Amino acid sequence: MYRMFVRPAGPEGETGADMMERNGPPMARWIARTSQLSPQGRVLEIGFGPGLGLEQLVKIVPDGHVTGLDPSKLMHQRAGRRNAEAVRDGRLTLVEGVAEAMPFDDNIFDLVVSVDNHHFWTDPQAGLRAALRVLRPGGRLICAFTLPSGGSTRGLSRRLQTAGFANPRALDCPEGEAAEAWKPEQ
Ligand SMILES: C[S@@+](CC[C@H](N)C(=O)[O-])C[C@H]1O[C@@H](n2cnc3c(N)ncnc32)[C@H](O)[C@@H]1O
Repeated sequence: MYRMFVRPAGPEGETGADMMERNGPPMARWIARTSQLSPQGRVLEIGFGPGLGLEQLVKIVPDGHVTGLDPSKLMHQRAGRRNAEAVRDGRLTLVEGVAEAMPFDDNIFDLVVSVDNHHFWTDPQAGLRAALRVLRPGGRLICAFTLPSGGSTRGLSRRLQTAGFANPRALDCPEGEAAEAWKPEQ
C-alpha cells in the first residue's frame, strides 16, 4: 500500500500508477470543470501522481501557470512524460516535496487542489496551513477523494477552519467526495 499509493516507488509504484491512470480521468475532469479559474489562473496541485489533473489544469489556464508538488520520483517521471510539452513550454513546473513543507512563496496561487492524498499527509494540519500560506487572499482550496482512495471529507471542515480557512463546505462531486474553502481576504 505504502509503495503503491502513499509514496509510489519501484514495481508496486508502477502498478499503483497504472491504477491511478485507469481510474483518475473522471475526477481530473471534474476538478478542471469546478476550478473556476480564469485563463490567467495560477494553480498548485498537491500530490499530482501520474499527472492526469495537471494535464486538465494546463488546458484551462493557457495564459497562466500550473505547479505540481509531489514527493515521489516515480510520479515525477510519469507526470513529466504525460505533460512533456507543457513542461517544455514553461506552462507547468513540477516540484519535489511534501504538502507540509511547501517550497513556495506566500500568496502566489489562485487555487490549490489536492486529490486522493490529504489522508496520506504525515501532518495534515501543517499541510493545510501551508496551503493557506501560499494561496492569495481570496484564493480557494479544493480537496477531493475518489471512492476507492480510502480518503474522506469527514472532519475536514473543522481542520480547514482550524488552519485558518473561511467558509469550508462540501461540494457535490459525482466522482467521490470533495470540499472547498477560502483564504480570507483580510
Ligand atoms: C493515490 S496518489 C494520487 C495521485 C493523483 N492525485 C491522482 O488522483 O491520480 C497519492 C499521491 O500523493 C503523493 N503524496 C503522498 N504524501 C504526500 C505529501 N505529504 N505531500 C504531497 N504529496 C504526497 C504521492 O506521492 C502520490 O503521488
